[in-house]
Amino acid sequence: MSALFFAGRLGPLSTANRIVIAPMCQYSATDGNAGDWHFIHLGQLALSGAGLLIIEATAVEDIGRITPGDLGLYSDDNEAALRRVISALRNQSKMPIAIQLSHAGRKASSHAPWDGGASLAPEEGAWQTVAPSALPHAAGEPPPIALDDAGLDRVKSAFVRAAERVVALGLDAVELHAAHGYLLHQFLSPIANRRADRYGGSLENRMRFPLEVFDAVRAALPDRVALGMRLSATDWIADGESWDIEQSVVLARALAERKASFVHVSSGGVSPLQKIPLGEGYQVPFAERIRRESGLPTIAVGLITDPTQADAIVAEGQADFIALARGILFEPHWPWRAAAELGAQVEAPRQYWRSQPRALKNLFGDVRIGQR
Ligand SMILES: Cc1cc2nc3c(=O)[nH]c(=O)nc-3n(C[C@H](O)[C@H](O)[C@H](O)COP(=O)(O)O)c2cc1C
Repeated sequence: MSALFFAGRLGPLSTANRIVIAPMCQYSATDGNAGDWHFIHLGQLALSGAGLLIIEATAVEDIGRITPGDLGLYSDDNEAALRRVISALRNQSKMPIAIQLSHAGRKASSHAPWDGGASLAPEEGAWQTVAPSALPHAAGEPPPIALDDAGLDRVKSAFVRAAERVVALGLDAVELHAAHGYLLHQFLSPIANRRADRYGGSLENRMRFPLEVFDAVRAALPDRVALGMRLSATDWIADGESWDIEQSVVLARALAERKASFVHVSSGGVSPLQKIPLGEGYQVPFAERIRRESGLPTIAVGLITDPTQADAIVAEGQADFIALARGILFEPHWPWRAAAELGAQVEAPRQYWRSQPRALKNLFGDVRIGQR
C-alpha cells in the first residue's frame, strides 16, 4: 500500500492520509471576517480527500494582517463569521481542520498580491506596523515600531486570545506562523532582529519570543488540540548573518522538548535579497534533517506536485506528511488522482461517488452505488 495513504498522526490528531492542504491567504475577508468566498474555497478543499486542511494565515490582531483582506480571529465578529464556515465544513466533511495563527509584523499594511503587494500609502488606509526592530522589510518602506515589553505582552496575549477562540470553534489543530518573514520569523532572524535586550542577539534570545508564544498558546489549548509551528528553515542569504538550517534544528529541538505536535518546513521570506534555488521538492531536505535531528513529525512543502514524488517523500522517511498549496488549487481533487495512481483509497462525498471511473472500482472504498 502507498505510504502517502497510510493513516497519520500529528500529536493528538489522527489523519486518514499524509496529504496536508497548506495554508493559503485569500485576501478576501472584510474586517477579518470570513465570507462567501471562504465557504466556497474551504468547502471545495474540504471535499478533496486530503488528510488535513490548514486554514490560511489568520491574524491575531488587526495590525497583524498582511492586507486589509486578511482573515482575522481578533474579534467576536471574526469568531462568529468563521463559526458559520466551520459549521458548514463540519456538516459536509470529516476532514480535520487546523488554522494558521499569524502576525505579519513589519510585512503588514500591504496591498494584496494581485494589486502588486506593495506597502499601503496613508491615503489607502496604511497602519503603523510593529516588529522586533525598527527596520523596514525593504528599503523605502515605512519603518515598523520596535515592540517594547508592553507591546510584546499585547501580541502574546493576542495569540492566546485567538487560541481560545480556536478552542471555542472546535478546531483540531493550530499552526503558529513563524515562517515567510512574518513577526515570529522576524524575531528568529538576525536580519530583522537587532534587539539588544533578552529577545535579540544570541540564538537563545532570538528564539525566546516565538517559544514564549508557543508556551502561552499551548497552555491555552486543551490536550486534544494539536499545536505545531511553520518555520522558514533558511533565509536563503549566503553572506552575512541570517537564519539557517542549523538554527532551525535547534529551534525544532526546543519545540520537541515542549511536545510540539509537528513542524511544517518552509523557507525564505524575511529578506528581498534572498536567492531561492527553486526546484522540485526543494525544501524537502530541510524537512528531512529537522525530522531526523528533532524527532518531531514533519510536514514537507514546496513544489511537491506529483503523487509518486509525494509518496516517495513519505516512504523514504524524508517527512511524515507532504503539503500542497498551488497544486491543490489547480486540481482540487489531487488526492483522488494520487489515490488512483498509487492504487490507494480516498474518502469522497457520496454525492460524487458515481464519478468513480470503472477501472478504479475501489477508489472510494467499499461504496455501494445503486441504480434507478
Ligand atoms: C495563494 C497562496 C497563498 C499562500 N498563503 C500562505 C499562508 O497563508 N501561510 C503560509 O504559511 N504560506 C502561504 N503560502 C505558501 C504555501 O503555503 C506553500 O508553502 C507554498 O506555496 C509552496 O507550496 P506549493 O509549491 O505546493 O505551492 C501561500 C501560497 C499561495 C500559492
